[in-house]
Formats: sequence, C-alpha cells, structure tokens
Amino acid sequence: MDGHAKGAGLEDTLRIIAVWTHILGIALFVGPQFFLAFAWGPAARTIKDQNTRLDLTRTLTRRFGWIGGIGIVLIVIAGSFLIATWRDYYAQPDVGFTDIWYGVIFIVKMNLLIVMLAILAVHMFYVGPRLVNAMDEHINHGGPESAVRSARMLSMAFSIAGLLLALALMVMGVMMNTTGFSFENS
Ligand code: HEM
Repeated sequence: MDGHAKGAGLEDTLRIIAVWTHILGIALFVGPQFFLAFAWGPAARTIKDQNTRLDLTRTLTRRFGWIGGIGIVLIVIAGSFLIATWRDYYAQPDVGFTDIWYGVIFIVKMNLLIVMLAILAVHMFYVGPRLVNAMDEHINHGGPESAVRSARMLSMAFSIAGLLLALALMVMGVMMNTTGFSFENS
C-alpha cells in the first residue's frame, strides 16, 4: 500500500467537498438553461394571454438569474480551491504549470469562462431586457411584431452560445481531471 492511513484523510475530504460544490454549481447553472430552452419555450407558446406569458417570462428569467448566479459563485469558490491545492493534491511541487496539458487547458478554460460570462452579461443586461420590452410594446402599445421576432432571434443566439461554452468548459474540467492525459507534457 502507499503508507497512507485507511479512509479519506483531511486532504481527500476537502477535495471531495470542493469537487461536489463545483459540480453542484454547474448543475444549478447549466440545468435551468436546458429547462428554459426545452421546457419553458414550448410551454410559453401554449399560453393564450400575452400579458400572463410576459409576466411568467419575467419571473422565470429573474429566478434563473438568482439560481444561475448562486451556481456561478459556488463554481468559482470551489474551482479556486481546486486550483490552489492541485500541486499538493497531485504531489507535483516542481513541474512548470504550462509544461503539462493540465495548466494549458486550465488557462484556455479561464479565458473561455471570461467570454462566457461576457456573453451572459450582455444577455442579462441588454438582449433579454430588449426582448421583454419589445414584447411589452407589441402586446400593450401596438409595437411591431418584427421587433419581437428579431429580439427573440438575438436572445436565442446568445442562449445557445452561452450554453455551448458552458458545455465546453465542462469538457475541459474533465480533461484536467483525466490525469493520464493531462499530466503528459504539452
Ligand atoms: C473560476 C472558475 C473555475 C476554476 C478556477 C476551475 C477550476 C477547476 C479545477 C482546478 C478543476 C479540477 C481539475 C482536477 O481534477 O485536478 C476543475 C474541474 C472541473 N471543472 Fe472547473 N473551474 C472553474 C470554472 C468551471 C466552469 C464554469 C465549469 C463548467 C460550467 C467547470 C467545469 C468543471 C468540471 C466538469 C470539472 C471536472 C470535475 C471532476 O470530475 O473532478 N469549471 N475546475
């Protein structure tokens, strides 16, 4: 055996908690995106009263903002712990960070994360409100339906881009975790 005491020591326990927290955050952040796209969209189209539909859209997207926001906070806290402790955990005190794929993938992952957060911010603060306003104008003030349609297309493009990036970030996390590959020289 490797001389360690049986069972999970403190280091392993903290690792388990951190990976769990990282994955819980991902579930909270990514899960509702699938739900909004594939469950809420079709359901919304069956609602006859347009103002009800608008109110529900507002409530659901605001809730997603909270749930997804908490998810991102958990992801970042746990991810920071995981990257701060990786050398100890894998007993790699000396290897250059970018000499192995682990470090290279991490850097790419952080850059893509910034892009994803930027897309999310534009969606939350510009594209989303623009769609809700266009819907409101159309329903209550005779605004053109074409404005709703183009705002909806833009919103869908941002949703898809953000979701694809989140899925790519997950692949990169799992690639880092697959040390048979990620500890090879880059
Ligand atoms: C500040 C942000 C983040 C940091 C610092 C971070 C860091 C890390 C680290 C160090 C690992 C562990 C790799 C290993 O096993 O040694 C990891 C795993 C992982 N990360 Fe992240 N990450 C961040 C954001 C994200 C985001 C936004 C996603 C996806 C939406 C994500 C998805 C994953 C996944 C799926 C794993 C694999 C979990 C496992 O099987 O152990 N991470 N991350």
